[in-house]
Amino acid sequence: MREFILYSRTGRTDSRFQNLREAGRLDVVYQSILMALFRSHAMRRDVVFHAILSGPPAPPLELVIDGEKLRDARTDERTWEDILRKVLSGREHPGITIKKNSLQQLVKEKKNIFVLEESGESIRTIDLGENPVFVLGDQVGLPKKDEEFVLRYGKKVSIGEKAYLASACICIINYILDLRECFSGENEDTQ
Ligand SMILES: C[S@@+](CC[C@H](N)C(=O)[O-])C[C@H]1O[C@@H](n2cnc3c(N)ncnc32)[C@H](O)[C@@H]1O
Repeated sequence: MREFILYSRTGRTDSRFQNLREAGRLDVVYQSILMALFRSHAMRRDVVFHAILSGPPAPPLELVIDGEKLRDARTDERTWEDILRKVLSGREHPGITIKKNSLQQLVKEKKNIFVLEESGESIRTIDLGENPVFVLGDQVGLPKKDEEFVLRYGKKVSIGEKAYLASACICIINYILDLRECFSGENEDTQ
């Protein structure tokens, strides 16, 4: 299993918004959901995506999307605007839950945590172990004090020196993990 935790410092915590961008940049959360949970013509059933929404009026809320249980979701922005509005107004959608939770509390419940940061250890050499959990900042980045807290439980990992969009980081990590699964055992066969 793979997990992604996106910290959204402004993501709205109610359903009163005109569009995702004006909802404290819930468009960044939507783009990250897309890259975390969808492949071409397939959902990633082995991914759980979390977003900590820290915007008004009732922060912090944890949005959890479980790829194994997610149903009735297409990839377009309008679909996700409707889904997010629905769950933020207290209604249900299969595979999605909303609960009161903070980043600090969520991280304490997890093992094998990696904080995405340009200055971290290269993803090419770091041992990701089993069931890695990746923590990312939003369009601004992870607040320093939260990063310091999460680093008590995990390590920094980098996908390169250049800064990428949070959604691109998720896409790249999914791809790297897919490659590892795809070619694992290849060297063993030839030795
Ligand atoms: C759009 S970036 C934030 C950029 C922001 N200006 C900053 O300096 O933190 C969003 C998140 O993606 C992750 N990120 C971006 N580029 C990365 C890289 N090259 N390696 C690892 N993580 C990266 C970080 O977690 C960052 O908080």
